[in-house]
Amino acid sequence: MRTTRNRVYRKLYRGFESPYLRQIKFIRFKLNMHYKVLHFKNSGDMPQDIKTKMVHLVRDVYDDDTAQEFRNEFDKNIPYEYVVVLDETDTNIIGLACLMNSGLDFDIWEFAWAMVCVNYRGIGVGKLLNDERIKIVKQHQGKKILCVTQKAWHLVRNGFRVVCTFANGDNLMVCEF
Ligand SMILES: CC(C)(COP(=O)(O)OP(=O)(O)OC[C@H]1O[C@@H](n2cnc3c(N)ncnc32)[C@H](O)[C@@H]1OP(=O)(O)O)[C@@H](O)C(=O)NCCC(=O)NCCS
Repeated sequence: MRTTRNRVYRKLYRGFESPYLRQIKFIRFKLNMHYKVLHFKNSGDMPQDIKTKMVHLVRDVYDDDTAQEFRNEFDKNIPYEYVVVLDETDTNIIGLACLMNSGLDFDIWEFAWAMVCVNYRGIGVGKLLNDERIKIVKQHQGKKILCVTQKAWHLVRNGFRVVCTFANGDNLMVCEF
């Protein structure tokens, strides 16, 4: 019930958000004045409050079941690295994304989970999450990245291409350096 009410408030807020306010957010973001990007090499490195806030973001963007799935993955020994973007107050998580070495080959990496808080979309946070993950893959001497997504546009702008579209509409995308 509370979640539903929060969703309604968020929708109302978005409805009232003026293009002017959006432009201010965009300029502040571009000036990189207030947004902090954190990188965690595994979930064990992460403070508990960051984990909790990440789960809240997943719940806000998706739903309770997906948030539970995300939370369970903390304990599953999945070798994810996490990129997290904090808001201007350094307290709220406005975006998160994951990456991991694929196991297919030493230089192949995978992108997983990527999302941005609804009120902060369209100002480049999604692209920043991709840029940051690609930077990390390069630091690891990775040469190829795989990702499965329905939002091909989100990765095409980072040099990915679609190599196959599955029956359910998911695209297998690759990027090579
Ligand atoms: C996908 C997602 C992460 C993008 O985050 P974001 O912060 O809004 O992305 P950005 O601000 O970096 O990019 C917005 C840009 O994409 C463009 N865009 C938005 N929707 C688009 C679409 N359907 N097709 C093409 N371009 C689109 C915008 O016009 C904007 O372009 P511009 O930078 O040239 O103005 C965000 O929408 C999200 O969290 N979605 C829900 C979770 C999800 O689907 N994750 C899967 C990601 S693979």
